[in-house]
Amino acid sequence: MGPGPANANPRVLAAQAMPLLGHMHPPFFKIMDEIQAGLRYVFQTSSEYTCLISGTGHAGMEACITNLLEPGETIVIGDKGIWGARAADMAGRFGVNVVDLKKEAGKTFTIAELEAALKEHKPAVLFLCQGDSSTGVHQNLAGLGELCHAHGALLLVDTVCSLGGVPFFADAWGIDAMYSGSQKVLGAPPGAAPLFFSERALKKLRERKTKPMSYNWDLNLIGDYWGWFGSRSYHHTGMVSMWYAMREALQIMGEVGLEGMWARHKRLHEDMWKGLTAMGLEPFVANPADRLVTVNTIKVPEGVDWLALNKFAMDTYNVELAGGLGPTLGRVWRVGIMGYNATPANVELVLTSFREGLKAQGKLKA
Ligand SMILES: Cc1ncc(COP(=O)(O)O)c(C=O)c1O
Repeated sequence: MGPGPANANPRVLAAQAMPLLGHMHPPFFKIMDEIQAGLRYVFQTSSEYTCLISGTGHAGMEACITNLLEPGETIVIGDKGIWGARAADMAGRFGVNVVDLKKEAGKTFTIAELEAALKEHKPAVLFLCQGDSSTGVHQNLAGLGELCHAHGALLLVDTVCSLGGVPFFADAWGIDAMYSGSQKVLGAPPGAAPLFFSERALKKLRERKTKPMSYNWDLNLIGDYWGWFGSRSYHHTGMVSMWYAMREALQIMGEVGLEGMWARHKRLHEDMWKGLTAMGLEPFVANPADRLVTVNTIKVPEGVDWLALNKFAMDTYNVELAGGLGPTLGRVWRVGIMGYNATPANVELVLTSFREGLKAQGKLKA
């Protein structure tokens, strides 16, 4: 019940144990086609340019940045937690001119702030993290694609800990590129980064003057393995077992349905906060509309030992809770409500862990 990896669905683990197919054999290409259909559904796009990157969320981040930008171009990074800072670090390594647009931890960017940055810096790309797992904020993305396009920029979004748990509409919101992670709401082990490029983003990639600086993440080559350009060529060995896992995870998303997933995560987030509030605990994110439902940040009250409470939860109930990360280190607990773990029983177990953990420190009476 930390910010991930969440427990994987047993159906996904069983799928992963199936015998290996050759990664260039037609039956395996069929599995890849089915994965792409599943990705189109969870991303809410009709774009042909979807795939899994062989790596975790960071690999997806690096793939998007190195493919979307050439050295000397500018990226504006919406930096409101550690993910913006990491994207800035990566872009800098690729010779991209980085504008670090900072925001106090726990807050989100307004449209007016982003518009001012687009006007001033005229970037090729604007980066935003939808669900920031280091602070527990949820950045609203509606309308931002249109805004970026009006200023000649592409919109790149991190959805590693939010995809599947909160609404996301790649086409309707005009998103140009997006990466996510397998090990959070999607309910698979870590090791695959779902990725999406819009037509606009693909055009930019195809018209580059320089090759993407990473061979491993070159989407001209990876796309050619995923059939983006009408053929299939070997780039690297597809992660056969991991792709089985993702096919099953996406199948489950389809069975439950996105609306059902979003509603379940929101309901459990609200139920958990009812219980936490009754114990006198407070959210780190002041504005309810900015609170991420998949990763919840809970302020550590004065005089409470957060690490001791986490140890108590693990030792007593086998429940994993996490402390803060980056700007929230020592200031919050982080509790994940994600995918297979998103059940009323698990939320109840989290509440029991906090209740009894606080009592054990003499910080809660009744
Ligand atoms: C929002 C966000 N972005 C990126 C990442 C990095 O993903 P990974 O650890 O899978 O590389 C994480 C991981 O927790 C995340 O929560």
